[in-house]
Amino acid sequence: MTLFAGSALLLWAGLVVWSVSLAQSEAEAVELVRNTTPDGAEFWVMPRKSELTYYPCAQCHKLIPPNPEVRKLFSPHPSELDHGDERIWCLTCHDIEDRNTLTNLLGESVDFDRAAEVCASCHMQRHQDWMFGGHGKRRGDWQGERVIYSCPQCHDPHTPTIKPRAPKPPPPVRKGLARPLHPEAEEYLSVWERLESDDHD
Ligand code: HEC
Ligand code: HEC
Ligand code: HEC
Ligand code: HEC
Repeated sequence: MTLFAGSALLLWAGLVVWSVSLAQSEAEAVELVRNTTPDGAEFWVMPRKSELTYYPCAQCHKLIPPNPEVRKLFSPHPSELDHGDERIWCLTCHDIEDRNTLTNLLGESVDFDRAAEVCASCHMQRHQDWMFGGHGKRRGDWQGERVIYSCPQCHDPHTPTIKPRAPKPPPPVRKGLARPLHPEAEEYLSVWERLESDDHD
């Protein structure tokens, strides 16, 4: 029995050590993307490629002839695009020649890790705010290197509107807490208890 418990403990300790080292190597594997503001201040952006399910795209697309026609797509892709009021299509942002990259309005290839530069083609003001810290979110604290999230961390480029969320219910009233005694009352009553017992005549 003790032997069993001992080996179970060892196994558990081994698992903990393994998962800690896994977490560390994962953190090291994140290669931040260097950027600079127009006035030269350096900042870093969290990469996105590692988050994508279908990357590298060429694994399928090298076999499929590109089809620029606007149409309802079949699996595996989203069948519809809810962005840009039907004025834009997949190939506005996805490079038709190099399927592993994005493209901006100048027709230049843009890496998936630099998606914000694609958004910037049309949302220049928002991109400017993001670059200077007025939009989006910074990781870590306010000291040291400035690391921020890229636009698709929060906006799905295919349905970018942020959906409204129902507010969380308020926390429950904590029962059984010792309340301080009211100077004039023998027993302290909560507001609703007082309202109930108040004589309004
Ligand atoms: C599992 C295979 C597969 C992978 C991986 C894949 N695609 Fe596709 N993709 C397809 C198929 C199949 C179609 C055609 C669907 C249709 O015609 O309805 C398609 C169509 C498209 C289209 C429409 C334009 C065209 O040429 O048909 C775009 C844009 C696209 N894919 C982008 C991507 C991007 C970007 C990636 C990588 C992030 C990717 N795909 C990865 C299978 C794939
Ligand atoms: C406004 C620009 C834009 C348009 C239009 C657009 N995409 Fe994308 N797409 C992106 C960006 C940016 C990403 C990377 C998202 C991320 O980092 O999570 C992406 C990611 C993808 C992926 C990879 C998703 C994954 O998790 O692997 C596929 C597949 C894809 N797009 C297909 C399409 C198809 C098909 C269309 C047209 C119906 C389309 N996109 C239209 C910008 C766009
Ligand atoms: C080719 C131009 C173009 C590009 C590139 C583009 N957008 Fe848009 N986007 C639009 C237009 C036009 C609208 C307004 C129409 C609409 O609401 O769909 C819009 C609307 C939006 C909205 C607001 C939707 C709302 O609720 O009003 C968000 C958020 C957004 N885009 C995010 C992005 C992000 C993130 C990227 C980069 C991945 C991006 N856009 C790239 C043209 C673009
Ligand atoms: C940390 C998350 C986050 C990041 C990163 C982020 N956004 Fe947003 N964005 C939001 C939220 C939250 C809103 C407010 C949504 C609302 O008010 O309905 C918003 C609003 C917007 C809107 C206006 C939508 C509207 O309803 O008027 C646009 C356009 C937009 N973002 C584009 C971008 C672009 C472009 C980038 C990258 C350069 C970006 N965002 C980065 C969270 C983010």
